[in-house]
Amino acid sequence: MALLPILHYPDPRLYKTAAPVAQVDDRIRKLVRDMAETMYAAPGIGLAATQVDVHERVIVIDISEEGNDLLVLINPEIIESSDDRQVYEEGCLSVPDVYDEVERALTIRVRALDQQGEPFEFEADGLLAVCVQHEIDHLNGKVFVEYLSRLKQDRIRTRLRKLARQREREMQTV
Ligand code: NI
Repeated sequence: MALLPILHYPDPRLYKTAAPVAQVDDRIRKLVRDMAETMYAAPGIGLAATQVDVHERVIVIDISEEGNDLLVLINPEIIESSDDRQVYEEGCLSVPDVYDEVERALTIRVRALDQQGEPFEFEADGLLAVCVQHEIDHLNGKVFVEYLSRLKQDRIRTRLRKLARQREREMQTV
């Protein structure tokens, strides 16, 4: 297993659209293991392959408190969305230290492949629904801050660029 580097907003690679997984094989299962390890280490509750610069439709999620309930979604699709909406304060491993409210569907029905390549479906609401919609957005090249006002997006970009420069300087001096 390996920890994968996570891309940070506004890295242009976060705007790529991920391609469907053609075959769920050992290469994909290794990617899933590495993504799960990376998510747990961060720590986070969801990670899309896009965030580790792999542009294939793979997501890992674990919203359990104990971190022992891994959900793997390959080629996920939202096949039904409720008209009822919810507002949730979201964060993202690609946008460190930024949390803000996003409105999304309250209940969704999801179809995906599991790690054996078998299709399955489930219904999600609350935090799980937020997470699945947030991660599928990543696969479509969308980061949650794009739901926020222009002004907020500009501020976040400026702050993260500054942070990145700081980090570079720190690495040079070590
Ligand atoms: Ni995210």
